[in-house]
Amino acid sequence: MSTGVEVVTGIAELRRRCDAARASGGRVGLVPTMGALHAGHRSLVRAAAARDDLVVVSVFVNPIQFGPQEDLAAYPRDLAGDVRVASEAGAHVVFAPAVEEMYPGGPPRTTVHVAGLTARLCGAHRPGHFDGVTTVVTKLCAIVGACRAYFGRKDFQQLRVVEQLVADLNLPVEVVGRPLVREPDGLALSSRNAYLSVEERTAARVLSRALFDAAARLEEGVRDADELLGAVRRHLACEPAVRPEYVELVDVDRLEPLTAVDGSTPMVLALAAHVGRARLIDNLVVDWDAGRPRCDLGVRVGPSGELQRVAPGPAS
Ligand code: PAJ
Repeated sequence: MSTGVEVVTGIAELRRRCDAARASGGRVGLVPTMGALHAGHRSLVRAAAARDDLVVVSVFVNPIQFGPQEDLAAYPRDLAGDVRVASEAGAHVVFAPAVEEMYPGGPPRTTVHVAGLTARLCGAHRPGHFDGVTTVVTKLCAIVGACRAYFGRKDFQQLRVVEQLVADLNLPVEVVGRPLVREPDGLALSSRNAYLSVEERTAARVLSRALFDAAARLEEGVRDADELLGAVRRHLACEPAVRPEYVELVDVDRLEPLTAVDGSTPMVLALAAHVGRARLIDNLVVDWDAGRPRCDLGVRVGPSGELQRVAPGPAS
């Protein structure tokens, strides 16, 4: 392959590469992914390439984070495409282990469980999912060693859970959270968008539209949690192809439901919905500045591929 990136499939070899980088004074950046890389993943790799000396992108469809009825077999796989995207974004190593390399002898007998935070939101609907995520992230961190690890705020709960894991187990890892990246029309980029038919893709826009509208309401002074949640649910109900799983307003720290919007507690309005075969998630993060909301809807891919901050207000 003529890309500058090295594809490593073995744990021992990856460890050697990372140890060598550290021995010569380099910093290692880790971007864990399940592949089918898109502009959201690319933004994480670019962020790592801007700061770290050896950028490792892991591409591993982790079987233990999928439920029995979920899409493990169908999950899109395109290693050649992933190597190209990772290389163009500045990665040095793509770590693409086989399932047997990561889990010789089947599912691991040791797993990692973050209590509390994983019981809510997606965790309430995907039993065992976050244990699979935290177990594989712990393994990747143990293989790569001291590093910065980059995660997207698209998976807000996952980022929070990983932050807690790293803090609780004193892993020698600095967790870096990065903005959610959207398509030009607002839909959050996801490898699972590939499952959508043309009609479902159009219907799926309602997820971001609902959150953009919630941000606009907050900016207009709405402070009633039920009013915000009700407005989001009404948006989703307009699209028969969209089957909401949850719409919740929680604080960003403990992910506990908020009944009141007090103008000072940082919060996230998070939702999940099924559209056709795809299960999609999206969120709006709200911080406060002297009682005024600072709504974070992430960034969107602009006309020439550049990322532009999304301003609250009606979706274009
Ligand atoms: P995956 O869904 O491939 O996502 C890999 C990383 O890319 C995660 O940190 C995710 O938050 C980020 N990402 C995905 N879509 C994004 C978007 N639209 N904007 C910004 N970041 C985005 O998340 C996983 O894989 C797995 O659970 C993993 C952490 C790799 C463990 O298996």
